[in-house]
Amino acid sequence: MKKIYVDTCSRPYHIYITQKDWNPFIEYLGECVRSKKLLVVCDENVYRLYYPIMDNMLSKYGYKHSVAVVPPGEDTKSLKHANSLYTAALDAHLDRDSTIIALGGGVVGDLAGFIAATYMRGIGFIQIPTTLLAQIDSSIGGKVAVNHPNAKNIIGAFYQPSMVYINIDTLTTLPRQEFTGGLAELIKYGYIWDGDFLEWLEDNIDGILAYDVDTLSYAIYKACTIKSHIVEMDEDEQGIRAILNFGHTVGHAIEAATGYKVYTHGEGVALGMVYETKIAYNLGLIDYNYVRKLIHLLERCSLPTKLHGIDSSILIDKMVLDKKNRGDNIVFILPTGTGKVDSFSDIDINMLNSVLQD
Ligand SMILES: NC(=O)c1ccc[n+]([C@@H]2O[C@H](COP(=O)([O-])OP(=O)(O)OC[C@H]3O[C@@H](n4cnc5c(N)ncnc54)[C@H](O)[C@@H]3O)[C@@H](O)[C@H]2O)c1
Ligand SMILES: [Zn+2]
Repeated sequence: MKKIYVDTCSRPYHIYITQKDWNPFIEYLGECVRSKKLLVVCDENVYRLYYPIMDNMLSKYGYKHSVAVVPPGEDTKSLKHANSLYTAALDAHLDRDSTIIALGGGVVGDLAGFIAATYMRGIGFIQIPTTLLAQIDSSIGGKVAVNHPNAKNIIGAFYQPSMVYINIDTLTTLPRQEFTGGLAELIKYGYIWDGDFLEWLEDNIDGILAYDVDTLSYAIYKACTIKSHIVEMDEDEQGIRAILNFGHTVGHAIEAATGYKVYTHGEGVALGMVYETKIAYNLGLIDYNYVRKLIHLLERCSLPTKLHGIDSSILIDKMVLDKKNRGDNIVFILPTGTGKVDSFSDIDINMLNSVLQD
């Protein structure tokens, strides 16, 4: 069992990283809920796989819990499904002392967190992330949101959970493509913050790909530590937290240009990191070996590294619409050396075009 303390101003909390045993969850749950009334939110896949364990455990310890099951997939992060969850919360008679548990991937975490942040102006919220992406990224840091038909994550809040409980055994049932997508975010932490971790990843990626428990739990622990640290410094993204968007300016544009149907989020981020690293090389910020290193590591994870058949002008249009921009400039987080990035906003459009066409 590994434990990380996240010291945010709005609500400090712990991340627990465990394997096999769900028992510690009940112990920690008792410490961070105000009443025994809970609503568990999960999607249909996770309901089938993990809700029976949760249900048994909560019943055994006298919790008065209900469950709300949503369809899997990004389309569920909508005001329509939010509304059905408000109804579920009302039907379950949740009050200000009740807690919502998000059991699932980033979709459920973001949606359930949005309900917890807004139902009765905020009730208890706990994250049990079950995808690699959710375990190392979306469950930490309190960004909760639903999508608008015209823009992703545009309706949301900063709302920290009171606990994040990771059981890495849940990753064994995760479809392979979802697992490798999460690896892109893992590699991102090496590039934005920690050159030693990047080197460690190069040496240990085979162990991670083989689900070696010790290797995987160390990697998750490192990623959670880095993300927590960045969130602690800048909870509401006024400055440094933006470095977590490395790979995302181009990545989100690729996801949007392909209708969120061709690439998983992690695959979009993998491609985004490659092209943003190439931009950094074109600006003379890094040498080409650093680009090669990234491509090689992503390829070992079976992640895409080259775009096919998307017009660069469409990608640039999507980038201009990105909510991370301030004013009309597209903001990029670019590598400036091993394990280091910085923010750039006046990239020459011709250079951008030629890199994206490469
Ligand atoms: N809040 C943040 O800071 C933040 C950060 C990054 C991403 N996100 C959001 O996260 C979402 C993506 O999350 P995701 O990649 O976890 O996708 P997801 O929640 O859609 O899960 C992916 C798929 O895996 C299934 N699944 C989940 N856990 C499983 C398990 N243990 N075994 C078998 N199947 C399982 C789900 O049913 C789903 O079909 C996006 O909406 C993105 O915007 C949020
Ligand atoms: Zn991401």
